Amino acid sequence: MEEYKADEKRYEQMQYARCGRSGILLPKVSLGFWHNFGAVDDYSRCRQIARYAFDHGVTHFDLANNYGPPYGSAEQTLGRIIDDDLRPYRDELFIATKAGYDMWPGPYGNWGSRKYLTASLDQSLSRMRLDYVDLFYSHRYDPETPLEETLQALVDIVRSGKALYVGISRWPLEATRFAFRYLRERDVPCLIYQGRINLLDRAPIEEGILDLCRQEGVGFISFSPLAQGLLTDRYLHGIPDGSRMSKGKFLRPEMLTDDVLARIRTYNAQAEAEGRPLSEYALSWILRQPGVTSVLVGASSTEQLQKNLHAASE
Ligand SMILES: NC(=O)c1ccc[n+]([C@@H]2O[C@H](COP(=O)([O-])OP(=O)(O)OC[C@H]3O[C@@H](n4cnc5c(N)ncnc54)[C@H](OP(=O)(O)O)[C@@H]3O)[C@@H](O)[C@H]2O)c1
Repeated sequence: MEEYKADEKRYEQMQYARCGRSGILLPKVSLGFWHNFGAVDDYSRCRQIARYAFDHGVTHFDLANNYGPPYGSAEQTLGRIIDDDLRPYRDELFIATKAGYDMWPGPYGNWGSRKYLTASLDQSLSRMRLDYVDLFYSHRYDPETPLEETLQALVDIVRSGKALYVGISRWPLEATRFAFRYLRERDVPCLIYQGRINLLDRAPIEEGILDLCRQEGVGFISFSPLAQGLLTDRYLHGIPDGSRMSKGKFLRPEMLTDDVLARIRTYNAQAEAEGRPLSEYALSWILRQPGVTSVLVGASSTEQLQKNLHAASE
């Protein structure tokens, strides 16, 4: 591929939103590396998607230690893209990673201990060929480890300079309240909460998490905003070859029930009445929820990303 020079117009279309009460602005549409960036995926396509994103103002990339497959390989792919294309733009990028799910065998490669989080971030930095990440998350709530241990590890990671900000993902309400207070009292306020809000799943709204984030000045980023592709035209007429559902691990055919299909068709009719694709309609709905900073989309092609970015220019 030819040498990369970022598009000079890259900041002209994207809109940015302040992340809670912080100094950070995030693009309204951010890019996730859960799927499509593993060692199993074609590197030149990964590189194209990342280039396309950055060229259109997507400054925020979201990773985790175990994204791939295999685990770790999405971070390796990003490291390669950084070296090939993006290192000159490091200060224009806001890169996140996480630890919380199973990553390596034995008792120290999972959940929320200080041992796991600290070692995992060191591994992530080396795979991504970075000195620091902008954002490090506890990827999930650990009911066994004292919350103070997990949270103090996050505080110490920031003090060590290996992450600039911290966040939590998928924590339940009361533990989230505790985390926000604990971190604020140690002058390492929680930057952002990562949870799933989309037209088919509104749990963080119903459970009060989004309201809590607003009250506490913490940003909120929604993962799987398209319900892994359900809230697009992808499955309106069956399960296409090569789609995430056709691979069947995280999005299984039995999840496309008659009820879900009927809801998708209703939303699609509403989107058509507004003259836009369902994907854009679905993303715009999330971005209108008070307290939502950004939507974290996945994309298996630049064409998908291009469609999804329309929601950010409203
Ligand atoms: N914190 C957590 O626990 C957690 C959990 C899940 C995800 N995440 C984060 O959130 C990110 C996004 O999650 P996600 O990939 O599930 O998001 P998503 O945006 O809901 O789904 C992305 C998938 O939908 C399909 N798609 C996207 N745009 C499309 C379009 N315009 N038209 C047709 N199909 C389209 C593609 O699937 P095809 O392969 O079928 O083309 C794409 O890979 C992840 O990468 C990760 O960073 C975090």
